[in-house]
Amino acid sequence: MNAAAPSTGLHYDAAQHAQRYQRVARLMPVVEWRAHYELIAAIEALKRERNAVVLAHNYQRPEIFHGIADFHGDSLELARQAARSTADVIVMCGVRFMAETAKLLAPEKTVLLPDLEAGCSLAESITPEDIRELRRRHPGVPVVCYVNTSAAVKSECDACCTSSNAQLVVESFGAPEVIFVPDEYLAAHVAAHTSVRIIPWQGHCEVHERFTGQEVREYRQATQAYVLAHPECPRDVQDAADYVGSTSGMLAALEREQPERAVLITECSMADNIAGAFPRTAFLRPCNLCPHMQRITLPAVRASLERLGPAIEVPDAIASGARRAVERMLELGRPRGP
Ligand code: 13P
Ligand code: SF4
Repeated sequence: MNAAAPSTGLHYDAAQHAQRYQRVARLMPVVEWRAHYELIAAIEALKRERNAVVLAHNYQRPEIFHGIADFHGDSLELARQAARSTADVIVMCGVRFMAETAKLLAPEKTVLLPDLEAGCSLAESITPEDIRELRRRHPGVPVVCYVNTSAAVKSECDACCTSSNAQLVVESFGAPEVIFVPDEYLAAHVAAHTSVRIIPWQGHCEVHERFTGQEVREYRQATQAYVLAHPECPRDVQDAADYVGSTSGMLAALEREQPERAVLITECSMADNIAGAFPRTAFLRPCNLCPHMQRITLPAVRASLERLGPAIEVPDAIASGARRAVERMLELGRPRGP
């Protein structure tokens, strides 16, 4: 790629940016990528100045995922990276619960969330008082919460999990039944793979609940594509899929299967971000955009590094309980099914 240096005069590594362009070449013309250069170069300079690391979820925009992220992955991988980071500043390119989890695991670091409005419908669906009420109704039953919850909710739970390790965490209690909140469909997915009786909550992801089993079946019949669905999708969507798993699980399944055509029943940026790594696979739609993930933009990241804000704080009163729930999950080791 014949790239022009940005006009800022900042340190700019043309070879690195040309290399990064190869990962997005199927998604955007080089002129669009060039339009991001100046911001990417400015952010790279700020990262060095602040000793900052950028963690990006798989659903982030391609220019963030491929342009500025030091690490990318699913919720579990981002939590692990936050825990082991030696940087002074963590910029979470993701949503609020991910930034809170990073702060719990790295309390001495400054954790930036470039847009505080980047929330999550699942996290909004349950409160700490809801957990206390569930415990009153089911005394002695362990409570597992999906990582897509507020720190205040986590502080009321026994353990946290992600979609990569939900079954492992549920079974770790050796209990006949477990309360599992807030995602009803992830709860159903776990229930289908374990003998533990799952007591669910009725929370939903506003992005994944919009898919229907019928559309997936029709689409698959028309295209013969390999269908991968996130477990936040309704049950009939999961039943119609060839593979159900976390965003990182989807990547592993694609590596195994190397399909000619694939459809990722999840957030649109996921397929965009990984397309470059699977040159023999055509990624087909449908997909839905997460409005919260989309709030994180290059200008917002630059502004947050410039003013070191907005920074996430977790009040002491809830931090220790929430940290215990997250650490219990991390102690359980590497993820496995469902
Ligand atoms: P993963 O844990 O699979 O990355 O999912 C997080 C999420 O918010 C999915 O909607
Ligand atoms: Fe939350 Fe759904 Fe967006 Fe994931 S995709 S952050 S679960 S609203």
